[in-house]
Amino acid sequence: MKHKLARLEPRSNTNDKSVPTIYVITPTYYRPVQKAELTRMCHTFLLVPNLHWIVIEDAKSNSKLVTDLLNNCGVVYTLLKEETPPEQKLGEKDKNWSKPRGVHQRNTGLFWLRDVFRGLPPNQIEGVIYFADDDNTYSLEVFEEMRYTQKVSVWPVGLVGGLMVEKPKVSNNKVTGWDVSWAPNRPFALDMAGFAVNVKHFLSKPKAKFAYHVKRGYQETEFLKHLVTLEELESIAENRVLVWHTRTEKVDLRLEQK
Ligand code: UGA
Ligand code: MN
Repeated sequence: MKHKLARLEPRSNTNDKSVPTIYVITPTYYRPVQKAELTRMCHTFLLVPNLHWIVIEDAKSNSKLVTDLLNNCGVVYTLLKEETPPEQKLGEKDKNWSKPRGVHQRNTGLFWLRDVFRGLPPNQIEGVIYFADDDNTYSLEVFEEMRYTQKVSVWPVGLVGGLMVEKPKVSNNKVTGWDVSWAPNRPFALDMAGFAVNVKHFLSKPKAKFAYHVKRGYQETEFLKHLVTLEELESIAENRVLVWHTRTEKVDLRLEQK
């Protein structure tokens, strides 16, 4: 139904106030698999009530591909753009971890949210922020789990950090540390896909944003340190895997040349 409504004018906003809105922030950039990745995400998000998809293209201007895809998807969305400065951009031959990815774009999404809510009375501010990269795999349940986040919620992420699953260590419902193998001493040793932030709480911390020069793996920590202490984290979906850090294989297009 949402997908069909997307073709009608005037456009209907299928979100309402029945449950808190989930603001999903997705950085994306052009490569041959981009349309496939975003199509998969669109189809997942169509099944999630009250989701607002904030897509930020890593580009000088918004592309026809992404504009048309979002226009026809049926999920409530906002399309923005923010180009990664050339010296920070990952080159074809660079190791994927040698430079941070999606950082400028996530901040642009956050700045947009601050603008939208600026000056609104507190009773009109509700919702949760989630950073969803375009290549991961999301179950529908993860959105219902995160929807009632008070400050920052955390949960396990599958297929990441050299493990089947990385997860918070939880004892009596309190987070006590991180059950991870790679860089376990990070204050917040979790992947971007493993946490959500309450909008009101985010707005109350004006310094909260991503940093442009941080040690590999510390991006999440750089952001979360502005928002919570370990003790304040809310553990959800304990012992369940509801999101996977899947990575799409680079396609072999050698025969296209011929
Ligand atoms: C891992 C984490 O899962 C990311 O959340 C984190 O940003 C990244 O490491 C990092 O350390 O910077 P990984 O799978 O290696 O992620 O990264 P990608 O999925 O390739 O990129 C993350 C997001 O940024 C994606 O949504 C991607 O479309 C976007 N991106 C990537 C850009 O917007 N521009 C680029 O040049 C590259
Ligand atoms: Mn990824």
